Amino acid sequence: MRIAMIGTGYVGLVSGACFSDFGHGVVCVDKDEGKIARLKQGKMPIYEPGLDVLVGSNVEAGRLSFTTDLVEGIAGADAIFIAVGTPTRRGDGFADLTYVYAAAAEIADALDGYTVVVNKSTVPVGTGAEVERIIRERRPDAAFDVASNPEFLREGAAIDDFKRPDRVVVGTSSPRAVEVMRELYRPLSLNEVPMVFTSRETAELTKYAANAFLATKITFINEVADICEKVGADVQQVARGIGLDGRIGAKFLHAGPGYGGSCFPKDTMALVHTAREAGAPFTIVQAVVDANAARKQAMADRIIAACNGVQGARISVLGLAFKPNTDDMRDAPSLDILPRLIEAGATIAAFDPESMDEARKHFGDTITYCDDAYATMAGADAVVILTEWNEFRALDLKRIGGLVKRRIMVDLRNVYQPSELIPHGFAYHSIGRASVAP
Ligand code: UDX
Repeated sequence: MRIAMIGTGYVGLVSGACFSDFGHGVVCVDKDEGKIARLKQGKMPIYEPGLDVLVGSNVEAGRLSFTTDLVEGIAGADAIFIAVGTPTRRGDGFADLTYVYAAAAEIADALDGYTVVVNKSTVPVGTGAEVERIIRERRPDAAFDVASNPEFLREGAAIDDFKRPDRVVVGTSSPRAVEVMRELYRPLSLNEVPMVFTSRETAELTKYAANAFLATKITFINEVADICEKVGADVQQVARGIGLDGRIGAKFLHAGPGYGGSCFPKDTMALVHTAREAGAPFTIVQAVVDANAARKQAMADRIIAACNGVQGARISVLGLAFKPNTDDMRDAPSLDILPRLIEAGATIAAFDPESMDEARKHFGDTITYCDDAYATMAGADAVVILTEWNEFRALDLKRIGGLVKRRIMVDLRNVYQPSELIPHGFAYHSIGRASVAP
């Protein structure tokens, strides 16, 4: 099958590369000339484990190519995926669909022969219908269907999530489009991946409902963590105790500084707006949005309290990305926490294995950028773990003890056990567990 992928962000690039690895011919289209030029040289615009190798091998095999020319890109395609950005619109929190609709118009003008136009961007319910209307209006003659095929890719594990998904959701009422979509995902049938065919509106809502549910689950355990701290319980044991119940499930019960990233914050807000407009207010998700925003702020206060105030203090920060294995800092807790610490009089020395370039765009010269974890710790009043990168999981605590000024660790990801820190003379503050001091 031949596929055109419009948009080479996380979703478009990973999906395009994976489809080509399935054996399909894929052309990735993007307006950004610099990005396409770099991709042609094998340079990835994002850090995603395994992506460079996957792209390289499929380009070499002649199955994957890149262009800025949409007309050339979609020529002869059986399916055209729209995977452009849908940022939160300024002011009202709605998803901004400008890029989706612009892509639809351009596709319409170049359609040639029966094509399935597939929306992969996360879009509010009804967007598929609008895309169909835009194309139909410009090209009353064209043979096409518009389907919805939401993605459920986690950054840092996106290739695996694409190739070994829990399910594939496709929204369309056209039997012809169903056939094309089945063929595109046929390689997954070996692993008996469930294909869930629904109406377009149902598929669109399924994506938002999935992300909002996961964000709710995280917020739930985060608030359980707060209670644990007050009553002397251990959130990790509570998470295990409830997670073993098959109805609840163990995943996404890791308490932390609040969820971030490109999806949960944006999608929860968009869903709240959609629900309100539809006259069916989604009160639980509204509460999740509010609790998560407040939590990020509260994390800074927790660090300040652990140090008994940070005026003139030097804080070592490990991890800036919103989660490990990505350089993405969109809505990362670090973006809320660091400015608040600086405002309270702290100086920050930070290290992240992948997001240092990204961090410079956000923090400029307000923080010091270090070359590794230990370099952040010289003379530090506290070591703060913000992102649970693997390389922060087995730090040499004895060495840290010799570098820092005060032995205080604030571990917002529960990477360590209190019992590991005590022998090294650290006061240790984590999430949902009692703080310990030597
Ligand atoms: C998410 C969804 O998982 C994916 O299906 C969707 O399509 C896009 O959004 P992503 O944002 O890449 O993926 O990362 P994810 O692993 O889901 O983590 C999101 C946020 O939740 C991160 O800030 C992470 O630190 C936080 N999180 C996750 C927790 O705090 N606790 C958990 O138990 C899990």
